Amino acid sequence: MGKYDNYRNFLKSNFTEFKTIKTDAKKGISQPPKVKPYEINSKLVDLPMVNESTLTNGNIYTCIKERRSTRFYSDKPISLEELSYLLWATQGITSTNKAGLTFRTVPCSGATHSFESYLLIRNVEKIQKGVYRYLPFEHKLLFMFELDELENKIDAITLDQPFAPNFANKAAVLFIWSTTPYRSEWKFDVTAHKKILIDIGHVCQNLYLASESIDAGACAIGIYDQKLIDHLLGLNEEEEFVIYLAAVGKK
Ligand SMILES: Cc1cc2nc3c(=O)[nH]c(=O)nc-3n(C[C@H](O)[C@H](O)[C@H](O)COP(=O)(O)O)c2cc1C
Repeated sequence: MGKYDNYRNFLKSNFTEFKTIKTDAKKGISQPPKVKPYEINSKLVDLPMVNESTLTNGNIYTCIKERRSTRFYSDKPISLEELSYLLWATQGITSTNKAGLTFRTVPCSGATHSFESYLLIRNVEKIQKGVYRYLPFEHKLLFMFELDELENKIDAITLDQPFAPNFANKAAVLFIWSTTPYRSEWKFDVTAHKKILIDIGHVCQNLYLASESIDAGACAIGIYDQKLIDHLLGLNEEEEFVIYLAAVGKK
């Protein structure tokens, strides 16, 4: 057996195997919460209604054509309207069904949406610097905590970046997506994990295109310190852990 075999098999269609598995969903075990709960007395930040007028370029063709991973940002802040739009574009709920499934601006296998969006906010108008979580049902931000030496922490989290060292510490916002795998495992059991990875790719691509449409740039970040960021966000690493990051700033 070659050293890559297991990893390659993970990439293949596993639908035949899946059909034979008695998943928790098929066993009648109730579906886990669709989003992470939060304390009722938390500090919430209202986000403006998403409005097409926020876009400086509404032409999908040019947004796709011009999109590049952007690692150099100006000091211009992102407005609250723009942040609201970026959050909506990446995880916004556009409808729900009778079973309570959420349908969002991004596709997701089985509409299981296993992600939470955390933000390290550095340079957004009307918002104090710090760590936040997006609440997609409420379309609000949950303020989590302030962070001393934010830029240094971002450097530590994003490790040695090969293209542009420490670029993320100049971003207006660092998006940090965690996954709670059981939301997908409940439905897809051991075949969930390939789907989770594909799902998060859709999320980040929407961030790239939405950023392009507001004269901002995004850069995906797969090089990060897993333990450091999970610890910083206070995640229970077995149930929920960070899967992907992206920096965004004005060009
Ligand atoms: C899964 C993934 C992880 C990535 N991780 C990083 C990263 O840690 N640092 C970085 O500077 N760019 C990262 N990138 C951006 C790629 O380097 C970039 O997409 C590639 O060079 C092609 O350039 P383009 O996006 O401008 O077309 C990542 C992209 C993807 C899809």
